[in-house]
Amino acid sequence: MEVAEGEEAVRRVQSLTQSGLSQVPPQYIQPPQTRPILPFHPPQTQHIPIIDLFGFDPTHIQSTRDSIARACRDWGAFHVINHGVPTSLLHHIRHAGLSFFNDLSMPDKLRYSCSPGAAATEGYGSRMLVNHDDADQVLDWRDYFDHHTFPLSRRNPNKWPEFPSGYRETVAKYGDEMKNLAQKLMALISESLGLRPSCIEDAAGELYQNITISYYPPCPQPELTLGLQSHSDMGFITLLIQDQVSGLQALKNCGGDSESWVTVEPLEDAILVILGDQTEIITNGKYKSCVHRAITNPDRARLSVATFHDPAKTVRISPASELIDESSPAKYRGVVYGDYVKSWYTKGPEGKRNIDALLLES
Ligand code: OGA
Ligand code: NI
Repeated sequence: MEVAEGEEAVRRVQSLTQSGLSQVPPQYIQPPQTRPILPFHPPQTQHIPIIDLFGFDPTHIQSTRDSIARACRDWGAFHVINHGVPTSLLHHIRHAGLSFFNDLSMPDKLRYSCSPGAAATEGYGSRMLVNHDDADQVLDWRDYFDHHTFPLSRRNPNKWPEFPSGYRETVAKYGDEMKNLAQKLMALISESLGLRPSCIEDAAGELYQNITISYYPPCPQPELTLGLQSHSDMGFITLLIQDQVSGLQALKNCGGDSESWVTVEPLEDAILVILGDQTEIITNGKYKSCVHRAITNPDRARLSVATFHDPAKTVRISPASELIDESSPAKYRGVVYGDYVKSWYTKGPEGKRNIDALLLES
């Protein structure tokens, strides 16, 4: 039987919370090993690096590249400031997103529902994976709106909310600014490994961009749930902004003995750069994608805007030949990006097991 998303098949987390429940439904309860430990204890001593881009002023470029190299090796994520994106635009997109979730009635929001059963379709949604039949699948405590913004042939603002006024213009402008920043950052990341500046972008074929605005309603049992389960992003780089309510965490020293979750502080005018799996492949593991997740809280809804930059589905991504020689053999086999995405949406992220499947024996 076909059931449209938004009816029985998929519940909006926001409508659950508005019904005033004091316990989360069983599908949202994480198994003990993935539950977050709350509150943070002991107080956090490690912080995601903050890199000043000095508006890409050429006199600072060499030291910026060095800082980026360090942050990419140590964290796979870093904040940038003086990035050249008008801070008013960061406010406008957060405001537009918040107003969509808070000020529209549920029936009005549901008019934009993304299609059920297909991965990564544009619109208003609540669950990421396509396999709706898997009874063991734990659901995220999150609703979102996904926008397709590049290549321009995919951009159709008629599919985006009309309210609040200016929403569509803001998303379009935001996408343009994020693409511009992502291109400059991908060039610096390439150069920081001695690669030609266009190395990562050339590998993309055509650069694809999606903007996902996530809304995490307050949760009555944050110790049992996750806003977004642990994952690494699939593409090249993600540019993320959040509001003042914290909840994003990055995994430091993933897989090592001192592995630990570090809260990514909300910095009002900064933009967080998160390396994705395709950057890990191209750099042959010199830079690792960052595993991250979102936790929930009982008091305040949280909003984030994540802008993903990905290769075309048809291109094959493999380690840059410049980084490979006898002493440093390829660590990953190449993968057609579309196949990678398909596998991710079927199996689910669960930390990094998707990229692990590409590791070659050493
Ligand atoms: C994502 C993501 C984190 C957040 O959408 O991939 O990691 O804070 N979002 O919303
Ligand atoms: Ni992510």
